[in-house]
Amino acid sequence: MKRICFATNNPHKLEEVRTILGDRFEVQSLSDIGFDGELPETHETLEENSQEKAQYLFNKFQMPIFSDDSGLEVSALNGRPGVHTAHYAGDRNADKNMDKVLSELSPSDSRDAQFRAVVTYIDSSVERQFEGIIKGSIAPEKTGEDGFGYDPIFIPEGYDQTFAELSADVKNTMSHRKRSVEKLAAFLNQLN
Ligand code: IMP
Repeated sequence: MKRICFATNNPHKLEEVRTILGDRFEVQSLSDIGFDGELPETHETLEENSQEKAQYLFNKFQMPIFSDDSGLEVSALNGRPGVHTAHYAGDRNADKNMDKVLSELSPSDSRDAQFRAVVTYIDSSVERQFEGIIKGSIAPEKTGEDGFGYDPIFIPEGYDQTFAELSADVKNTMSHRKRSVEKLAAFLNQLN
């Protein structure tokens, strides 16, 4: 089984990715490889931040690494919160972040939105990026208890419930993370 580190401190992301990759790969967390610092995220795009995190860890640990930088992009807000998704209301408080998005949308605005994830994979011979997108809309208010981050206000296309109301199994069939990580898995499988 190929051992590979997923560069995240987010336990929700880790659990989702382990479920998506199943037993095809041994996915190690940052704490599994002995890293307890903060990862740099100094850029203004998901692509650059994703690359920066993977590169930083590869330089330190010289092992196969993949990172995920993800965000919510709302059409009527010109793509915000985008790269600022985690800290939109100033800190990593999900409730305040969601309230800010809800308050910025006026009744006549389109509710169209998407989650986008950019995964960067780096090992000693290759570097690749993979994108995953799930389109949907912003709910009128926060609904549902499960999931994390903005799940209570995101309704995926084709459904009438938020990610926080849908089961994790359903979310994992279609999420931005699922779509990006499946592309990574296909790439890794064809390497071996
Ligand atoms: P990152 O850790 O810098 O990639 O920030 C991503 C942020 O986007 C997270 O902290 C969440 O707030 C949000 N986010 C990413 N993926 C999801 C998801 O699947 N559901 C809800 N929020 C998400």
